[in-house]
Amino acid sequence: EGVTVVDHPLVQHKLTLMRDKSRSTKGFRQLLNEIGMLLCYEVTRDLPLEDVEIETPLTPMRAPMLAGKKLVFAPILRAGVGFLDGMLDLVPSARVAHIGLYRDPETLTAVEYYFKAPANLAERLVIVMDPMLATANSAVAAIDRLKERGAREIRFVCLLAAPEGIEKLRGEHPDVPIWTAAIDERLNDHGYIVPGLGDAGDRMYG
Ligand code: PRP
Repeated sequence: EGVTVVDHPLVQHKLTLMRDKSRSTKGFRQLLNEIGMLLCYEVTRDLPLEDVEIETPLTPMRAPMLAGKKLVFAPILRAGVGFLDGMLDLVPSARVAHIGLYRDPETLTAVEYYFKAPANLAERLVIVMDPMLATANSAVAAIDRLKERGAREIRFVCLLAAPEGIEKLRGEHPDVPIWTAAIDERLNDHGYIVPGLGDAGDRMYG
């Protein structure tokens, strides 16, 4: 409940290509963008519409358009940025909040180094994105900060999740639904998702 596994065949196929350790940096980055686009399609599936008056070349009509304020995409740096271009291709008018967090390798706690969000967070749907949901410390910290800044409607999108991370995020922020392409087996002793795909940030940026 509150967790959607996006089992679309294109997503599953591309994810397998990304897990392969022989995938190049270039290929990995490209695939992450492509999957970002497909996940964006799913996470926006139920956005509210409102009818507006337009004129086709033949006649006036009422037709649906997205209601409310522009969306906010909130990538968690660095790896979350890998989703951003693909998502912006689908929703070009979205606003962007950048959230810089790194995971302390010893304690696995999330350390903030950057936060810049657009105004009116309270009136916008905020979509937080990060390829990996491992301990969920990063996701929880990002969402804590966004809520502190007024965000009320938040969704979280990732590529891979560990069961531990899902449980933690659902526990800390039960109002934030999760979309993921897969739920893997477990976390290892270093907080990496197994079988996973390695360190997404390193595979994208080196
Ligand atoms: C990795 C990953 C997530 C986070 C997931 O980031 O990209 O942001 O860890 O782990 P968690 O769920 O246990 O918090 P990292 O700190 O390596 O930074 P990077 O994206 O800049 O490489």
